[in-house]
Amino acid sequence: MSKPWWRDAVLYQVYPRSFADGNGDGIGDLAGAAERLEYLEWLGVDAIWLNPIHPSPNVDWGYDVTDYTGIHPDLGTLDDLDRLIAEGASRGIRILLDLVPNHSSDGHPWFRERPDFYVWSEEIPNNWESIFGGGPAWTLDEERGRYYLHNFAPEQPDLNWWNPEVRAEFERILRFWFDRDVAGFRIDVAHAIVKDRELRDDPVIPGLGMRRRYSMFRPETHEILREWRALAETYDPPRLLLGEAYSLEAEQWAGYFGERDDQLDLAFAFMLTHAALDADEMRGVVSEIEAALPAHAWPCWAGSNHDIGRLATRWAKGDESRARCALLILLGLRGTPCLYYGDELALEAGAVPADRVLDCATPSRDPGRTPMPWTAGGDWLDPWLPLSDTSRNVEDQRVDSGSTLHFTRDLIGLRRQLPALRSGTYTEIPTSAGAWAWRRGADVAVAVNLADAPVELDDVSGAILLATNRSRDGELVESLALAPGEGAIVATSQRSSGSSAASE
Ligand code: NOJ
Ligand code: CA
Repeated sequence: MSKPWWRDAVLYQVYPRSFADGNGDGIGDLAGAAERLEYLEWLGVDAIWLNPIHPSPNVDWGYDVTDYTGIHPDLGTLDDLDRLIAEGASRGIRILLDLVPNHSSDGHPWFRERPDFYVWSEEIPNNWESIFGGGPAWTLDEERGRYYLHNFAPEQPDLNWWNPEVRAEFERILRFWFDRDVAGFRIDVAHAIVKDRELRDDPVIPGLGMRRRYSMFRPETHEILREWRALAETYDPPRLLLGEAYSLEAEQWAGYFGERDDQLDLAFAFMLTHAALDADEMRGVVSEIEAALPAHAWPCWAGSNHDIGRLATRWAKGDESRARCALLILLGLRGTPCLYYGDELALEAGAVPADRVLDCATPSRDPGRTPMPWTAGGDWLDPWLPLSDTSRNVEDQRVDSGSTLHFTRDLIGLRRQLPALRSGTYTEIPTSAGAWAWRRGADVAVAVNLADAPVELDDVSGAILLATNRSRDGELVESLALAPGEGAIVATSQRSSGSSAASE
């Protein structure tokens, strides 16, 4: 079988309400996203993942779906999506949607008409807690006098995946979108779709809190992923399944790819996302992941998303050079990187005053969801979430070849040019404390200094292909010296005898 397209790809997450507003109502939409395809093509990304675009009362901003085959009127129409897919295809950009199979909205007609699609109990049957709020994951439905399960908000009742008709409905939903040339799905809560049939108590481990053994992580979830993978592979090209698959440790996570490469194609490696921007910690996580993954498995790296916030703030604390190091890591590791809109600008978390907070979760995730700053003037009219800081914006950075935007674009370009950077093996290079360096294939090295003191890497010599400090591009080094918060990709071929890093 030929290599699937996504192994070489750079993905880009678009939070639709905040990316680009096509009709000036302050809400980003599909038409706005289509207008920005030119930008995304220039940047060099291969696919965009759109957070949920379906009709929703927006208790959890689209993650509470009332119609899985419709489009939210704020975002546009099916025609707009068809146009986005077609125009994307003409620019080499595929479109991924977000599938929310764990729960629907309580406003979905199923909730009234098909109670058998949900999980019910006469009494609160166990100690399961809602992820939003920490109270019981069970709420009394006054009309029915019974409790229903919601692992998330009360307005997000969990679907009953023991019911074959639920499975059949989702198969229909997948086919509906695959038939419209949607390239695949990011799957929400891919680790928890099926619940324990007997609704047993989650174990409480002293000191560790509650372990979600029965409310999540059930082995039966793998069956569902297997069915979807088989379905996705009946299409040409096979549709991509990218899981939001959390896990308690690397081996469990590796299980989502299936022993026989028959489940997820890609899964977010959240162990890295949640690590600190610290050499020891990240090196440790990556070596654990590398060791746990079966040969066919392929991780997806992300430093930001609509839940966790922005890497430029979270990891880099506003320091642009460290944000560039983060980008070097995401794009330099073995796997598929997924940028979050704005990562390419080193965009920081937005300021959202308490009276503008719209998120249902605490702490609010809104600072990571503020509108994309396209210009310094901010070209949003009365945006749904405030756009307070436009100092890092597309227009200014696009005309500045020293900007982080150009850095990201050049990094994506380098990945495209160098097969080793896309598919070469990952091998650690010994470094002094605070630095992290690895080889990709035989003769490309990636190195970052995440410490507060300078380092010198004796085992990295050659020609700098791309550095966070752009004035160093092209420099020849005998041993790579990196200032605090500096990083580089180095062609080491002069020193090594193996194959060359020559471009394709
Ligand atoms: C994960 C999504 O990324 C998050 O935004 C959402 O709130 C929960 N799943 C529930 O759907
Ligand atoms: Ca709009």
